[in-house]
Parts: sequence; C-alpha cells; structure tokens
Amino acid sequence: MEALITLLPGDGIGPEVVASGRAVLDRIAERHGHQFSYREALAGGAAIDETGSPLPDETIDACLEADAVLLGAVGGPKWSDPNAPVRPEQGLLKLREVLGVYANLRPVRVLPELAGASPLKAERLRGVDLVVVRELTGGIYFGEKTRTATSASDLCTYTVAEIERIVRVAARLAASRRGRLCSVDKANVLETSRLWRDTTNRVMASEFPEVRLETLLVDAAAMHLLSRPADFDVIVTENMFGDILTDEASMLAGSLGLLPSASLGDSKRGLYEPIHGSAPDIAGKGLANPAATIASTAMLLRHSLELDVEASAVEVALAGVLRAGARTADLAAAGEEALSTGAFTAAVIDALS
Ligand code: IPM
Ligand code: MG
Repeated sequence: MEALITLLPGDGIGPEVVASGRAVLDRIAERHGHQFSYREALAGGAAIDETGSPLPDETIDACLEADAVLLGAVGGPKWSDPNAPVRPEQGLLKLREVLGVYANLRPVRVLPELAGASPLKAERLRGVDLVVVRELTGGIYFGEKTRTATSASDLCTYTVAEIERIVRVAARLAASRRGRLCSVDKANVLETSRLWRDTTNRVMASEFPEVRLETLLVDAAAMHLLSRPADFDVIVTENMFGDILTDEASMLAGSLGLLPSASLGDSKRGLYEPIHGSAPDIAGKGLANPAATIASTAMLLRHSLELDVEASAVEVALAGVLRAGARTADLAAAGEEALSTGAFTAAVIDALS
C-alpha cells in the first residue's frame, strides 16, 4: 500500500527517536512491499524558534493531509517558563484538537525479563497487560482559563456526547481483549464525574452487556494500579486523570522509554507518540531509548494503515530484542553494557528479517 506519514521530530530526544521509528517503518515497507513517503514538519520549541508558533499552519496542513502522524516530543528548558505567551505544549494540545483525536490509547505491558527495571516487586508485575484509554480533547485541559493578580481558574466541562464516544472506544477495546473495563472518575466530588459515571453506566448496560464494568474513584485507582496492576484490562478516564495515571502506570513497565501511545478520532488518521517527554538532559547523545517510538510505529501500522501483520512483526521484533538482553542506558543494570539509540534500533531492524 501507499501511505503518507508526517513526521514531527520536535525537541530534545524527539529527532533521535523519530529517526528510529522511521528506520523501522522503512524496513517494514521494504519487507512487505509498501510505499511509505514522509513529510517532516516543525512542532514545539523547534517551531517556536523558527516561526514564533508551536504549531505553524504548514504543520497543521501536513498533518491533515497525512494518513498518520508520528511525533517525537516537545518542550525543553529553553521554552519552559510557564508564563511565556507561547509554549511548546500549546502546539501539542492544538494538534490533538485539530486532528480530532479524542481517544488516547496507552498500553502497558510488562515483559518478565524487564520486571527488574520497575521499582515494584516482580511478583506484583506478573501478567500486567492493560490499556489506559484517556479522553484527550476535553475536560480541564480545554476549558476556559482566567487569571487575575489574585486568582485563577480552569473550567472543566464534559458533554454527554464526548463521554459516550470515548466510553464506546474503550468498551470495544475491552470486548476484543479480556472483557473488562474500569472507569475512573471523582464522582464523590465533581459534577463532571457524576455525568461521566451516569453516562458510562448507561452506555455499558445498553450497548456492552458482555463487558464487565468496574468503577473506581481516581485516588483509589492510583493505589490499585500499584497494589493489583495485573487485574486491569482496559481503563477509561477523563483527560487529566488519564495524564496522571499513565505516568504512574509507566513505572510498572520500568521506564517511560518503553511506552507508546496512539491518539485516534473518527477517521483512520491518528497521532502516534511515545509517552515520554523530550529529555533535554540526554538529547543528542545517542542515549535515548527508542523502544516507545518503535512501539508507537506498530500502533500506527495497526490503527491508521490497518496493517496488522506488519504491526505484530514490529512488536515481536521489539520484544525479542529486549528479551535477548538489549538494553539502552535507561534500562541497563549497573555494570551492564548499554546500547546507543542507533544500535538498539539496528538490532530491532535486524530482527525484522
Ligand atoms: C502527555 C503530556 C502532555 C499532556 C503535556 C506535554 C501537555 O504530559 O501527553 O501526557 O499533559 O497531555
Ligand atoms: Mg503526561
């Protein structure tokens, strides 16, 4: 097949990990007879430096014209003043909004060989295989903001339609997996959460009676993620709770450098990115772990290009390389040899014979 993929390397280690992702996609294209073409565009701090905007119009056009978008990371100390009028993160939020990618899938799987990298006890981690489905284009991230000298506010709004569509995405995913959905809210305090819970209960009872629904308050969910992580199958939650819980969940896998994400809307076009940030402290040194971006390319192949066989091939190659002991610096034990970003990527490409 032919596909156009827009690459947004962004800031920090973004360019390095996106180069790894592209190299993997190139190998897949070569081995499976596809034609992938790429367009590179500016986003984040790199875009602010060039154009003054974290998401220039040309970038928006390049993303809207593509079949899929692969993003590295945005942000860094140079642009990190929270009071600056333009910040790299605004570009990311706007990109999610203009692409209409309201469903953010963040899978967390723990390879037994990597259990030692997690701060949690290995026996707790046995069998962890969950996906957080985070609502991505609503809630407090996108509500009206106010600021005076003495007060500030961020409005959190959800509509029934916004809740229904994300719950359906999560429930369909749960139905295709182990048939369990956990909805996370704060319905004892927040009105938006009470609407979230009522809507979730109704949609699940009428449309997905075969999926077992559990409901947790977000504070309890934060605890259960650590005390019984293997019990979770699919977790669905609103934008900010999902942001926080997925950083927590990443520690189950041992490194932020392992976790991919897909952001999807109603069309096939999706935005794919590692969940880690731009890690400016290690940028440009070949120290970054490209595994999360490589795993994100597998999600891109599966969700936007409908190439399931190719997606699985990437996942199998990546897991195989990790099982065989390949470790970037974030995962290497003391005294263990660490592979550079490029060497790890080459190992995955070799495994994609
Ligand atoms: C994430 C990030 C972003 C978010 C930031 C960079 C705006 O933390 O993708 O999880 O909060 O959504
Ligand atoms: Mg986050």
